[in-house]
Amino acid sequence: MAGNIENPESIDMTSPSHASGKQLWENRGLLVPGVRAVMGQRFTPEECELAAPQLTRNVFERLGTAFHNKHVLEIGTGIGRFTPGLAERTTSLIGIDLSKNMLDRAKTAVTGRENVRLLQGNATRLPLKDNTVNGIFEFAVLVHLVSEYEFQQAISEAKRVLKPDGTMVLCGQLSQDNKTHMINPQFIHRPIAVYEQALHPLSLVNKRALESLGEKFTMLFFQ
Ligand SMILES: C[S@@+](CC[C@H](N)C(=O)[O-])C[C@H]1O[C@@H](n2cnc3c(N)ncnc32)[C@H](O)[C@@H]1O
Repeated sequence: MAGNIENPESIDMTSPSHASGKQLWENRGLLVPGVRAVMGQRFTPEECELAAPQLTRNVFERLGTAFHNKHVLEIGTGIGRFTPGLAERTTSLIGIDLSKNMLDRAKTAVTGRENVRLLQGNATRLPLKDNTVNGIFEFAVLVHLVSEYEFQQAISEAKRVLKPDGTMVLCGQLSQDNKTHMINPQFIHRPIAVYEQALHPLSLVNKRALESLGEKFTMLFFQ
């Protein structure tokens, strides 16, 4: 599964100006009205739609009551695949996404839910005060922050807005060895140790596996 891009040197891993792919996500956000999920470029809209119900069910089954009675931030809502289900399982939910087109569709997905607020923003500079939420959820967002600078910045921002007793649930593909693998210029697999190191002083308290569209995902629970 792990692969390499043709010319890794062409990507500046330290620059905050390296495309976090805003335009790419804006374009993806316009894909095929009616589907319940829009994922990365590797997947067709039909595959995204096919995978949506089962993946969503599996994620919430594994999430259990982790966000019960909590004020939660969802980083990278996309078009709102998990947003309504998260809203059902939390006291309040703030959803943030880089892309206006994604958010417009997420707004439709949460119509009528009064405990949800959606904001356009960047994970690397969250528009929230310190210690605002006691839960954070992301699915397939950090794996798209290929620049080391953006990844570290996003983790540091997540830690800043999370209250000391908070729970962070990070979901995505991990590298299967202890190396980081660039899969393509917008997609990266990092080893679990990189997450643990970046999340310090939070600790990894649980780890749950998922599979969808032939991809292995891991839900990492930090506290
Ligand atoms: C693969 S999609 C996943 C969407 C959703 N979490 C899901 O699983 O259906 C990645 C999402 O992250 C958003 N995103 C990418 N980089 C971001 C950033 N730096 N800050 C906030 N959102 C970002 C994209 O706009 C896109 O909606």
